[in-house]
Amino acid sequence: MKWVLGIESSCDETGVAVVGYEPGSTAPPVLAAHALHSQIDMHQAYGGVVPELASRDHIRRVLPLTQQVLTEAGLRKSDLSCVAYTRGPGLAGALLVGAGVACALGAALQRPVLGVHHLEGHLLSPFLSSDPPAFPFVALLVSGGHTQLMGVEGLGRYQILGETIDDAAGEAFDKSAKLMGLPYPGGPALSRLAEQGNPLAFKLPRPLLHSGDLDFSFAGLKTAVLTQTRKLGTELESRKADLAASTQAAIVEVLMKKTLSALEQNGATRLVVAGGVGANRALREALTQACQRRHIRVHYPELHLCTDNGAMIAMAAAMRLQAQLAAARTDYGFDVRPRWPLDEALGAIPI
Ligand code: KG4
Ligand code: ZN
Repeated sequence: MKWVLGIESSCDETGVAVVGYEPGSTAPPVLAAHALHSQIDMHQAYGGVVPELASRDHIRRVLPLTQQVLTEAGLRKSDLSCVAYTRGPGLAGALLVGAGVACALGAALQRPVLGVHHLEGHLLSPFLSSDPPAFPFVALLVSGGHTQLMGVEGLGRYQILGETIDDAAGEAFDKSAKLMGLPYPGGPALSRLAEQGNPLAFKLPRPLLHSGDLDFSFAGLKTAVLTQTRKLGTELESRKADLAASTQAAIVEVLMKKTLSALEQNGATRLVVAGGVGANRALREALTQACQRRHIRVHYPELHLCTDNGAMIAMAAAMRLQAQLAAARTDYGFDVRPRWPLDEALGAIPI
């Protein structure tokens, strides 16, 4: 068994994990241990992520978390065969912490290192679940920074079918929640409140729903929510759950309809939903029901692996190494890619 350490530090979670794989085998790699420190409490006071604080906190957390996962996995540092880290996209300073620590660890242990694309990590995270998908599939990648529909033919073979032209779905949740006075991060808070509201209470726009392509736009929805909050004035407090439910319904409807169109156009019989917004219960229910009717299998990551974590980074690295689709490096020089389109990381990750 080869053991890969994965370090995720692209935004406001420090995630570390160990994944093992058998070289030459087709059996998917397995998760040995993972640990996560979320910075939510720290950033909450500011209503959003403060990049400098994020970087400093990653520095504090990454080595204790590494020690923790090694202990949990019953491994020593010398048992590791590769150290993987998120190379991008994400906050530059935050990424540099993970990259720097991974390369230092690799150099000290004389083990190779591998930079991983964060979105590929999300995309492959359902392979960590007890019901892993099989290629090919259509993927709906919905996170705080990205909203993309992808045709996934195989490992490293990704075709972007559609994406957001402005805000991401997670951003739509977060910004709408902020307008309603909900705490950061808004997505989970808004969706919790939406459970008690009426999704038909407010008529909100479904941007690009009938555009005929697979692109998304969520900026107009945020403006409509702002208009509603202003109109409601002092009534906002008593109508907040209805507004939350109506906002969620608008986001879910657009995501669901475009995903179904992508499946139809692509002819795929499997759907993978990944990224933080993939934890949303209303979205999961809507997609599961719609796909059941169409005999399409839907795969989600385990709920706790929807948002950022180290397991998906170790998994993406292990899958690439096992398939000999990436060469780990031993020069230990590193850079990060705060903006890194996924299609630039196709095939073997450029090193
Ligand atoms: O994938 P992720 O952890 O980070 C990025 O790579 O961006 O996604 C974070 C996003 C945030 O916008 C957060 O509000 C949203 O995912 N999110 C949710 C839920 N849980 C997390 N949005 C809606 N409903 C949820 N349950
Ligand atoms: Zn993410």
